[in-house]
Amino acid sequence: MNHEQILVRRGSRSGLPVILAIHTTAPGQAIGGCRLAGYAEWRYGLDDALRLSAAMTQKCAVAGLPHGGAKTVVALPPGAALGPGERRALLHDVGDVIAGLDGAYATGPDVGTGPPDMTTITDRPTHVFCLPPEAGGSGDSSPHTATGVVAALRALCEAVFGTADLAGRRFAIVGLGRVGAPVAPPPAAGQAKLVVADVDPTKRTLADELGAAWVDPDDGLRSDVDVLVPAALGGVLTPAVVSELRCAAIAGPANNQLDAPGTADLLHQRGIVWAPDTVVSAGGVIYATGVELRQETPLEATARVRGIGDTLARILRDAARDGVPPAAVVGGGSRDGR
Ligand code: PHE
Repeated sequence: MNHEQILVRRGSRSGLPVILAIHTTAPGQAIGGCRLAGYAEWRYGLDDALRLSAAMTQKCAVAGLPHGGAKTVVALPPGAALGPGERRALLHDVGDVIAGLDGAYATGPDVGTGPPDMTTITDRPTHVFCLPPEAGGSGDSSPHTATGVVAALRALCEAVFGTADLAGRRFAIVGLGRVGAPVAPPPAAGQAKLVVADVDPTKRTLADELGAAWVDPDDGLRSDVDVLVPAALGGVLTPAVVSELRCAAIAGPANNQLDAPGTADLLHQRGIVWAPDTVVSAGGVIYATGVELRQETPLEATARVRGIGDTLARILRDAARDGVPPAAVVGGGSRDGR
């Protein structure tokens, strides 16, 4: 067992499984968002919590943050839609589990949750990040995650194509959610060529506004583009998908993009540069912890988020020098690394 603590509790109000995995508190308070997602079996949610919390440890370490990794996952039955009352009840159940940890862990937004949900979980600032500004928090972390992704894309393009200019590049963004959407360049801003995909067909309007080609997520992954940007759920890079990829490089905010650590080697063998998601997706935690714990101004915190570009450039340089996948530079390959 590599995790310090794993809690699984059936919520007393909601009856739903609340899973909280603390990978480590050795570097400091454990942090990691609260995910509400559908799983065919709650045990799959547990698997996800274990992997996602370990990835948070790596994310904090690479970003130089004094925190360990953790994650809360609520495993909803597939396709479940929670009414407002049910959602409140569930978030109170989550809050109970977090309160029991007495500040060893603080949560934040993740897939399926946002700042208003944080207020429902708890109003104790030592137990939660990203409360809405009116409640004293730094608000939604997604725009800051997106800022970090764009910095990473520039560093990646510099390393792979010799220029950080994103104009004229072809991108496929798979997932137009709160992080994926703001990564897309505003129409006509840089004439970047865009392919976009989302499981939600209503996002097609946004694709039209962006002047982007709309495809389904499976085709999005296999698009003939310069850079693939996975911006939805994890596990999308499997050996089968990797063998069919037509991109030169990959960088995106989705957590745990690889189905298994060894897939980084397959990407490397195909000559596709994969920027580790723990580096690319750190903007939200860098910003929220900087502003809420280290008294950084929004400008200072944003500058640190943009520093993701320098961090990634260094990792890509070291990887190229040693002829290894970038994942190996950040400690990929460890059993729980992703
Ligand atoms: N979803 C965020 C992540 O994966 C979690 C988070 C954001 C935690 C902001 C704390 C503050 O990195």
